[in-house]
Amino acid sequence: MKHFLKETDLTLREAAGVFAQAASFKKSRGRKTAPVLSQQTWAMIFSKSSTRTRVSFEVGIHELGGNPLFLNKNDIQLGRGESIEDTARVLSRYVHGLVVRTFDHNDAVKLAQYSSVPVINALTDLLHPCQMYSDAFTLAERWAGRSKNLLGSLKGKKIAFVGDTACNMASSWVLGANYFGMKIAVSGPKGFSPSPAFDAFLASEGFENGYEFTTDPYEAVRDADVVYTDVWVSMGKEAESAKRLKLLAPYVVDAELLAAAKPSAFFMHCLPAYPGKEVTQEVLDSPQSIIFDQAENRLHMQKAIMAFLAKAAKSKR
Ligand code: CP
Ligand code: NVA
Repeated sequence: MKHFLKETDLTLREAAGVFAQAASFKKSRGRKTAPVLSQQTWAMIFSKSSTRTRVSFEVGIHELGGNPLFLNKNDIQLGRGESIEDTARVLSRYVHGLVVRTFDHNDAVKLAQYSSVPVINALTDLLHPCQMYSDAFTLAERWAGRSKNLLGSLKGKKIAFVGDTACNMASSWVLGANYFGMKIAVSGPKGFSPSPAFDAFLASEGFENGYEFTTDPYEAVRDADVVYTDVWVSMGKEAESAKRLKLLAPYVVDAELLAAAKPSAFFMHCLPAYPGKEVTQEVLDSPQSIIFDQAENRLHMQKAIMAFLAKAAKSKR
């Protein structure tokens, strides 16, 4: 069974097809969309808050002719200790796909292991691949021009990720950038650098030493085509808030830092943003900011991922 738990779960050829499909869904939205999830129900098991992911998946499943079923972890027996294994096996008897947002990435992996329907990672503490694919698509839309080669347009471009470089978005971007042939520099305080466990994971994916780490954000953004940041306090890290805000304070993305990247550089943020903390309002509102296109593209990209996985699952039956 094909799942989408990490950026590399699709072959590059499959990813190219999914990017093209996302472009096509975007173009034809509201006019003609093949109901590829017709007669299907996709369950969404969420253990963390969400605005974009929840709404874009629910709308996307609906637009593909399917029925979204939102399950807050605490409303189902999983929240009372029923095993992930049994939850996966039981839900697989009812639904045609699972979308999961949780803490431990291994829980999503286990869900997929015991599920007989496709599982999509809608964010774990390790990775946020739906966001990374949507972000990469957002850039490809700009860089591909008339060429149909969306993925190819990313090759050789440089991303600078500034802030909490140990968070899921940084990790997803490091993995995805390596996979799509981009360069990536990450910059934050030493305490928030990618962990040895992440380095081992990256190496296991074939990308040893796949990023440059520097504590100097100006060094990271030099020659960068994209400056990316994320919240300083990710979901589940609230107890560390005070420490994080203090240590990360020198890593705010402001107009001066953005100006140190290429003049054509884009500013990106997965959102939600906290203006005045990881980024200034001026940067969020600047013409270089493409944050709402990123948010919109979650819908088109996730529809394309679901359409791909549903087709792959059908051919397995
Ligand atoms: N970017 C993102 O995943 O946002 P939500 O937490 O609102 O889903
Ligand atoms: N790093 C953030 C991303 C939110 C979409 C978090 O995990 O809270």
